[in-house]
Amino acid sequence: MHPFRRSKSSTEAGAMKHRKSNNLSIFVIVFSVFLFGVFMYNEDVKSIAEFSFSSRPKASEIQVNNNPVMLQESIKTEETTKGIGTVNDELKSMATVKDDEPIKMVENKEDEKQQQQQKIEILPVVKEEDEDVELPPEDCDLFTGQWVFDNETHPLYKEDECEFLTAQVTCVRNGRKDSRYQNWRWQPRDCNLPKYKPRFLLEKLRNKRLMFVGDSLNRNQWESMVCLVQSAVPPGRKSLKKIDSLSIFRIEDYNATVEFYWAPFLVQSNSDNPDMHSVLNRIIMPGSIKNHGKNWKDVDYLVFNTYIWWMNTNTMKVLKGSFDNGDTEYDEIDRPKAYKRVLSTWSKWVNKNVNPNRTTVFFNSMSPLHIRSLDWNNPDGIKCALETTPILNQSMSLNVGTDRRLYVIAANITRNTKVPVHFIDITTLSEYRKDAHTATHTVRQGKILTPEQKANPAIYADCIHWCLPGLPDTWNEFLYTRIISRS
Ligand SMILES: *[C@@H]1O[C@H](CO)[C@@H](O)[C@H](O)[C@H]1NC(C)=O
Ligand SMILES: *[C@@H]1O[C@H](CO)[C@@H](O)[C@H](O)[C@H]1NC(C)=O
Ligand SMILES: *[C@@H]1O[C@H](CO)[C@@H](O)[C@H](O)[C@H]1NC(C)=O
Ligand SMILES: *[C@@H]1O[C@H](CO)[C@@H](O)[C@H](O)[C@H]1NC(C)=O
Ligand SMILES: *[C@@H]1O[C@H](CO)[C@@H](O)[C@H](O)[C@H]1NC(C)=O
Repeated sequence: MHPFRRSKSSTEAGAMKHRKSNNLSIFVIVFSVFLFGVFMYNEDVKSIAEFSFSSRPKASEIQVNNNPVMLQESIKTEETTKGIGTVNDELKSMATVKDDEPIKMVENKEDEKQQQQQKIEILPVVKEEDEDVELPPEDCDLFTGQWVFDNETHPLYKEDECEFLTAQVTCVRNGRKDSRYQNWRWQPRDCNLPKYKPRFLLEKLRNKRLMFVGDSLNRNQWESMVCLVQSAVPPGRKSLKKIDSLSIFRIEDYNATVEFYWAPFLVQSNSDNPDMHSVLNRIIMPGSIKNHGKNWKDVDYLVFNTYIWWMNTNTMKVLKGSFDNGDTEYDEIDRPKAYKRVLSTWSKWVNKNVNPNRTTVFFNSMSPLHIRSLDWNNPDGIKCALETTPILNQSMSLNVGTDRRLYVIAANITRNTKVPVHFIDITTLSEYRKDAHTATHTVRQGKILTPEQKANPAIYADCIHWCLPGLPDTWNEFLYTRIISRS
């Protein structure tokens, strides 16, 4: 295997310095000394450099990413670099979650009689429920509003009643003591979200495919959607299977599927292997989308997202040529510039391949991270690990380090596609939810965190992903609203 290398003729690299990363251990020592000298929790340094665009030394330039480790897990490297880069670590852990947790197969082994009984139950209820779902006006801004505590209506399903949840997200089962994070409902300022009725949604999904495309945050949301619909489906009439990059949840009686397709950059990259994608040296082909796109054709509801995989370096490595031809040279391009190229490719694909009479397209804005508790004025916090309430004071200005440059690009590009795209603006409302991450109540390399790891949230808390039930259910309430609004 050829190590990838930076193109000598690269002119787009901007302020990039040439880096030598052969001697990783010296780097680790020097970097650690630097970190301890400046901050209490060394993990956060990297995130500061990466998320706040300050003039601090760019930690990502003293980075660990240039190892010639590709298309394979490198446990050794992972160990060596442990505790250095928050985002890298968390990205790696989210990769291993998938690797080590083959999705549960649920077979249809119920006896026939039972199934028929259950089938009969479904139909009359649908009619009845149809009538009292009140839709918000088409032009209501659903994303401006506030979080209200509402333990009458939320959560929309119970953690232990959704067998399809992976251990990554079952926070209470994993030992989380508080559960109020499940009880918050998003209240738009100018209208109400429609009451969630699983059978109503299922009726809309009849003979249809709903697919989430993107990274592990989409997978998080997909798991939520599976739970939202599955509560109304009797045992044995639903199944989950995984074929390469595609995970398919199937609801027999409705001939409906809720699917997830792994493509963390949407375009082709060297991180596309659904099982082994913790690639340290991430490289994309911003113009290449067909190979993925052919799997998205004729899907009825498409939900896209790409963000978190962009966040571990300030620049993106862009392949010169093609992986298929064995090319290995790349340019390093500023993150927003590369992001724009990728989303332009994506929007061209949408315009060319989506029939708007059949398919509704959604694009989710950035899912935020919470890795510096000082961002919300909690000097006693440790990343997101000790948070149990949302940020409720919205007059406080809040910056948790979201790369708003990418937000602006995504908002603009999705507004200008020929085929309409619904921009699901989850960013700001999710920024308030410092309480909703999995933190230490999750898995790492396929295993629930050990008590020792749980006791060390500065290193081990995952402040990227979200507990379920929880915040991604709200993202799906927005999808639900749009889906049931279409006649
Ligand atoms: C809802 O929360 C209130 C206030 O915390 C509590 O008194 C009540 O018992 C809760 N109700 C349910 C159904 O959990
Ligand atoms: C079942 O759903 C698929 C995918 O949406 C669709 O192509 C097919 O026509 C449906 N089958 C029936 C019998 O309606
Ligand atoms: C969508 O439907 C409209 C109205 O029925 C029709 O004029 C148009 O050609 C259709 N577009 C496509 C791409 O099928
Ligand atoms: C909300 O934040 C603003 C600005 O920081 C502050 O002035 C105000 O007192 C806060 N309100 C409450 C209720 O804490
Ligand atoms: C928004 O997108 C349009 C068309 O895609 C482009 O011409 C324009 O420059 C973009 N504006 C910004 C602020 O990016």
